[in-house]
Amino acid sequence: MTQGRASGKVILFGEHAVVYGRPAIAVPVTDVQATARVEAAAPGSGILIHAPDIGQTIDVATAPADEPLSFTVRRTLARLGRAWQDLDLSLTLVSSIPVASGLGSGAAVATAIVRALTAHLGCPLDKKEVSSIVYETEKIFHGTPSGIDNTVIAFEQPVYFVKGRLIEPFAVRRPFWIAIADTGLPSLTRESVADVRAAWQRDRQAYEAIFDRVGAVADAARAAIEEGRIAALGALMAENQRLLRRLDVSLPELERLIEAAQRAGAQGAKLSGGGRGGNMIALIEPQQADAVRAALQAAGAKRVIVTEVGK
Ligand code: PMV
Repeated sequence: MTQGRASGKVILFGEHAVVYGRPAIAVPVTDVQATARVEAAAPGSGILIHAPDIGQTIDVATAPADEPLSFTVRRTLARLGRAWQDLDLSLTLVSSIPVASGLGSGAAVATAIVRALTAHLGCPLDKKEVSSIVYETEKIFHGTPSGIDNTVIAFEQPVYFVKGRLIEPFAVRRPFWIAIADTGLPSLTRESVADVRAAWQRDRQAYEAIFDRVGAVADAARAAIEEGRIAALGALMAENQRLLRRLDVSLPELERLIEAAQRAGAQGAKLSGGGRGGNMIALIEPQQADAVRAALQAAGAKRVIVTEVGK
């Protein structure tokens, strides 16, 4: 039996604008994880993927071409030069990462599959190759993904991401704390990305200007994180959130959590990921964790994760 694991992730700055070539910053969230377990199966049984969390069993031989989990298995085996028809395997997936919430559940499950399968077959791939296989799966989930999720999850480190560029090493000078709170509403990234695209097509000049400003915020945030100027991040989060509102991807439920976190003392807060639901993040001091968590829960958060970034 072989296991592969992958952490969740959260986008700190730059979502949506990153699809249009601007920089974004994302970090792994190790508090939530996806695990894939691979075992040899009886001869003739083929490859079966068991996902008890969602009550599904998928047969790789008969799954539609665009079913993301079997696609990931086929793609990984093709990269290793192995035919899925020749293998009898049982894959079991377990994940504590909430789906459709902006925490990278789809990319993490796919990464766990790639890691488990390649380890089981004795051919581990490097991070770049894992990331590129998962990017193909992300296209099925999200349509036109920027590639930030597969990159941060496969590389397991904070990333300053610009589409199409190699990832740049990026150090967190002083670790800092964030609270991540879930509205409980699904964040349908494929739809929010498509809506932003339609709006951009109607008024490119205005949207390009917003994306430029989001990119400038992400650049300023990178400098602050690298130099350990954590106090500067709060205002940058607020600025990023103002721009996300103009992209029309916020929601009253997200705004309510943002306001509650700020009232409880957070230095800044914004939505994270595709928006229209999913999670928000707040920059906090560790001693504020209990108060911010309580305020977020009172304001309707379905789940709150408090985590240290860059530890
Ligand atoms: O909702 P998430 O966490 O998968 O993030 C989506 C981020 C976007 O910038 C909106 C889309 C993308 O592909 O980068």
